[in-house]
Order: sequence, then C-alpha cells, then structure tokens
Amino acid sequence: MALIGVFDSGVGGLSILDEALHQLPQHDYIYLADSANAPYGEKSSEWIASRSLSLCKLLASRGCNAIVVACNTATAEAIKQIRAQLSIPIIGVEPGIKPAAMQSQNHIVGVLATEATLKSDKFNALLATLPSDCRFIKQAGADLVPLIEAGKADGQDTLELLATHLEPIQDAGADTLVLGCTHYPFLRKAICKLLGESITLIDTSDAVVRQLKRQLETIKQSSNPKSTFGSILLMSSKDEKSLLSMAQDLMSADLTMYSVQARILGEAG
Ligand code: DGL
Repeated sequence: MALIGVFDSGVGGLSILDEALHQLPQHDYIYLADSANAPYGEKSSEWIASRSLSLCKLLASRGCNAIVVACNTATAEAIKQIRAQLSIPIIGVEPGIKPAAMQSQNHIVGVLATEATLKSDKFNALLATLPSDCRFIKQAGADLVPLIEAGKADGQDTLELLATHLEPIQDAGADTLVLGCTHYPFLRKAICKLLGESITLIDTSDAVVRQLKRQLETIKQSSNPKSTFGSILLMSSKDEKSLLSMAQDLMSADLTMYSVQARILGEAG
C-alpha cells in the first residue's frame, strides 16, 4: 500500500481524489487543500511556485510515496521545481487541449482555465505543439473558484457568472470544452444547463489517475494489502470541517468505506 499526497489550492483536487478512490481504493491518501489562499489563479507565478513547493515538501515529509499536484495552476507554475527538489513521483495536471483537439469534429475548442494557467509558459508550449487548424477559444474563469470554495457550485450566482465566461466559447461554435481547472468538473451540471449535452467536456482526471497508477507500479510498496479500502486524511489551511462536508457533497466515492479524518493545517504543518 502506498501513501499518496493530493494537493490543490482548495477543494478542486477532490475531483482527482474522487477518481483515485474509484481506481485505487486500497491506498492511503492525504488531501491537502490550501483554501486559506485560494484562488491561486490570480496570484503571481513566484508566489504559486514557492507555496506549492513548500506544501509538496510537507506532504513528502509526512511519508507520501507519490504526490499528485491536483491543480492545473500549480502544475503550470511549479512542477519543475517540485520534481527537482523531491525524489518521489510527482504527477501533475494539465488542461486536456491535446485530447480535445483530437476529439473535436469542427476543430473549435473552448478552454476554461485560470488566468495563471492560460498565461503560463507550460500551457503555451503545449498549445504550440498542436495542429494549427484547431482554434482554441481561451477563457479565464475569474471568480468561479471562490464560488465553488463557498459551496455554491450549483448556485444562481455561479450560473450567471459561468454564462458570461462561456459566451465567447458558445459564440465561436465550439463543440468541445476543456475543463482546465480541477474545480470545474464540479460545474458540470451548470455547464450542461447552459450549453446543453451536445458539447463534449474534457476532464483529465481519469488520465491523471492512470498515470499515478503507472508511477506506483515503479515504486516499492508492501505486498501485503491490509484491507480493500484505505484511509483518507483531509487537511485544510482554512476549515477542516467544511472540507470534510464538501468532500462528502462533491465526491461520488462512498467515503463511509474509508477511515476518514479531517484536520486543520497549522503553520508548522
Ligand atoms: N484548482 C486549481 C486549478 O486546477 C486552481 C484554482 C485556483 O486556485 O485558482 O487550476
């Protein structure tokens, strides 16, 4: 069994943890939500890189065998430094623009992501590798993350803000939409309400967890499974009780099958 760290600026990475629990239920997890500092997407590159690195170091110091940086923004700004400083597998998350370009029939793809992700060198380098006949309509999802953090993913305010953000994508006639922030899978219902079921939504959590699975195969783990379901420690820099109730609300995995604890993340970790 491995201990897997999953880190995000807030509750968004729960979409990745959820997928991990479906594919890899037997492992132990520490989920770290830096909700006191969310959203990351509007902060400077330097701040995001240094904060992400120190939180990943904290997860490594707690004995994690692998870490998923379950945040597109932190991956874009910090994954190089994190990999350079830690010797365990580090799995990142990137907006799925490549699968989107392959799946789009009319070659018009919307990309909803944070401002920091869209501006990052990593994202733009990836974009430059894709066929030029595919048009990408990039839209920063400003202010959506705080609404999701506040438990309002299905609220009227969120729907209205989302409608504004999706308008240029809709006007351009995109048939595919990349959910380029791990918070956005929790907007699926609202997006379908606004765009209908005919648009293809691209969420990379399945691919990310498959990559985690491959990485876990390369590291030594105890071959002695203790139970079918592992334990989950939820840590929040803001409010552990709210993180626990958001996890119960937002995730489809049955958390009652796991031993779940929630703790506040103190300054000392
Ligand atoms: N969930 C994050 C992402 O995937 C970050 C959102 C934010 O804090 O701005 O980009």
